[in-house]
Amino acid sequence: MINSKNVKYTILSILGLLLIYLFWYVKNAVEISEYLEPGIVATHYNGANYVGSQTCYECHAVIYKTHLETAHFNTSFYPKEGSIKGNFRSDSNELDLGSVRLKMVMDEDDYFQLSNVKYKTKEVVKSKIDIVIGSGVKGQSHLNWKGNDLYQLQVSYFQPTDSWVNSPNFPENALNRKVDDNCLKCHVTFAQHKDKTSDSKSYDRERIILGIDCERCHGPSENHVKYHRQNPDVLVGKFIDNFKKYNRQQRLDACAVCHSGLQAQQIKGNPFSFIAGDTLSLYSKNYRNVNSNTKLDVHGNQMGLLSESSCFINSPKMDCITCHNPHENQRGNASVFNAKCLSCHEVNTINKVVEGQEHTASQNCISCHMPLVPSEVMKLKAEDGINEIPVYIRTHLIGIYE
Ligand code: HEC
Ligand code: HEC
Ligand code: HEC
Ligand code: HEC
Ligand code: HEC
Ligand code: HEC
Ligand code: HEC
Repeated sequence: MINSKNVKYTILSILGLLLIYLFWYVKNAVEISEYLEPGIVATHYNGANYVGSQTCYECHAVIYKTHLETAHFNTSFYPKEGSIKGNFRSDSNELDLGSVRLKMVMDEDDYFQLSNVKYKTKEVVKSKIDIVIGSGVKGQSHLNWKGNDLYQLQVSYFQPTDSWVNSPNFPENALNRKVDDNCLKCHVTFAQHKDKTSDSKSYDRERIILGIDCERCHGPSENHVKYHRQNPDVLVGKFIDNFKKYNRQQRLDACAVCHSGLQAQQIKGNPFSFIAGDTLSLYSKNYRNVNSNTKLDVHGNQMGLLSESSCFINSPKMDCITCHNPHENQRGNASVFNAKCLSCHEVNTINKVVEGQEHTASQNCISCHMPLVPSEVMKLKAEDGINEIPVYIRTHLIGIYE
């Protein structure tokens, strides 16, 4: 016998189940569409969207992980214990510059510079360190937000002496100086101007991508990620450039945009307009020193120096990637670099005797042919006021030094 009560219950339970299924379906559909639509972190001036390097992890895990260890990835970041260098505790956290006294302090979460201009006022100005510039291999500088403007603080960390110093080229009591694209362009992936139409040097604080990340070298990658999430069976990269298809100039330009020294003049767009694959000479022009000696702006000018080397001039295919893997930290790995030299030079055909010895494959080639040279830019006056303590940079003018 059919019980009308039972029928009611059955219908109700079926309805209930349907409802649960509907919830589940909607929630899943939202999750899938969220997955297929990566979150946008910033928008380039050409309209393309950045999605951030975490997005790359699911398909390029190995590259993602090794990249975290590079000086590029760590060249700018929000201050955090372990990465921010220098002493913020009260034994050697002070710097006296004559007219201004400075002190570096920290509380639970944040780091600050305290400054007090002597003779003028007793007032102590407390400036928060909002962004750190520099991986710390050589040093670190600090930036502070005032509204939407960024300022570099007076004190920097200097690795060779492991101490606080006046920031390079800083007047003694400037306390801070405004930072624009000409500082950020080489140390961040992207910074979006507050007002896109003008030459504004105010930034959108939510749209700044710190570190030199995947999308700095590979371009904003939203379309690439979307496509491959929707088409997991396609194993050829879409909507992304392959460096192997670039000509030599394009490959060089992708690095030269930041490794040609500090004196570049913008002739098109702004310093973030150029992306890999473009021709750099259409965007900026370098005032290059013509005299070819190691003094040629060693600071950051690997491109200028390399291009004057006999290796480079006589090898039609040599570029930065010949010796560097952009995804790995290779600093100090002499055997990797020796192998690169030996891929073109056979030691047993080098008939030159050096210091009574023949060339052998186990010698460290760069110690003689790419020596460390003092930087003209990053240096510190020693306490005697006369001598200078420089940072040493590996010259890319490969040659014979005595
Ligand atoms: C859903 C998977 C997926 C995601 C997410 C993804 N990629 Fe890819 N990518 C691929 C596939 C598949 C290829 C082709 C095979 C390969 O080279 O690994 C590729 C290739 C590439 C290439 C080489 C291009 C070529 O022609 O060989 C680059 C560069 C690249 N991806 C960069 C990125 C970056 C940067 C991100 C993060 C913003 C990213 N990918 C995220 C799937 C993905
Ligand atoms: C044209 C590109 C470029 C610009 C502009 C630039 N830098 Fe650099 N910077 C570099 C390069 C490249 C290095 C690595 C050292 C080298 O090769 O000389 C570097 C190194 C540094 C370091 C040391 C990092 C380490 O190795 O530990 C600091 C700190 C730094 N820069 C701060 C700044 C600040 C602050 C500004 C703006 C006032 C600035 N840079 C502008 C390219 C640039
Ligand atoms: C400093 C610039 C730079 C950065 C940063 C960078 N790449 Fe690359 N990437 C390159 C260059 C240059 C090549 C071409 C290498 C070659 O031709 O051997 C390349 C090649 C690739 C390829 C092709 C396969 C391969 O191994 O050659 C993939 C995939 C890729 N990059 C993904 C990434 C991802 C993901 C990140 C971030 C985690 C990243 N890259 C960060 C410069 C960079
Ligand atoms: C957006 C600017 C930018 C681009 C593009 C760029 N670099 Fe750099 N590179 C830097 C800066 C800044 C540093 C210094 C990082 C630091 O120590 O804080 C650096 C450091 C390095 C170092 C030293 C790493 C170490 O362990 O200290 C190498 C090698 C290097 N770059 C090679 C390359 C190559 C090769 C390319 C092209 C594939 C490239 N870079 C593209 C800005 C850039
Ligand atoms: C892509 C190939 C290639 C690579 C890689 C290469 N070289 Fe060379 N190098 C050349 C060529 C070609 C010449 C010019 C002809 C010659 O002297 O053999 C040259 C010339 C030289 C010279 C003579 C310089 C002069 O001014 O007379 C020295 C020294 C040298 N290379 C050292 C090195 C060292 C050290 C490395 C590794 C850090 C290296 N090379 C990597 C191709 C290369
Ligand atoms: C012939 C090989 C070779 C080529 C080509 C080459 N480099 Fe290097 N580079 C080296 C070696 C070797 C070092 C030293 C690595 C170390 O200290 O462990 C180095 C170091 C660097 C450093 C760190 C300098 C320092 O002292 O902190 C930067 C930045 C750099 N290279 C950028 C470039 C760029 C950009 C290009 C292309 C214009 C390039 N390199 C081409 C071999 C090369
Ligand atoms: C102790 C220092 C030292 C080391 C280490 C060293 N070289 Fe040399 N190399 C020299 C000197 C000095 C000369 C020039 C000798 C002369 O002209 O008589 C030279 C000459 C050369 C030349 C030019 C040869 C020619 O025919 O003009 C090449 C190429 C070269 N070295 C490559 C290398 C390579 C590759 C390595 C590493 C396996 C290396 N060197 C290690 C000091 C060194």
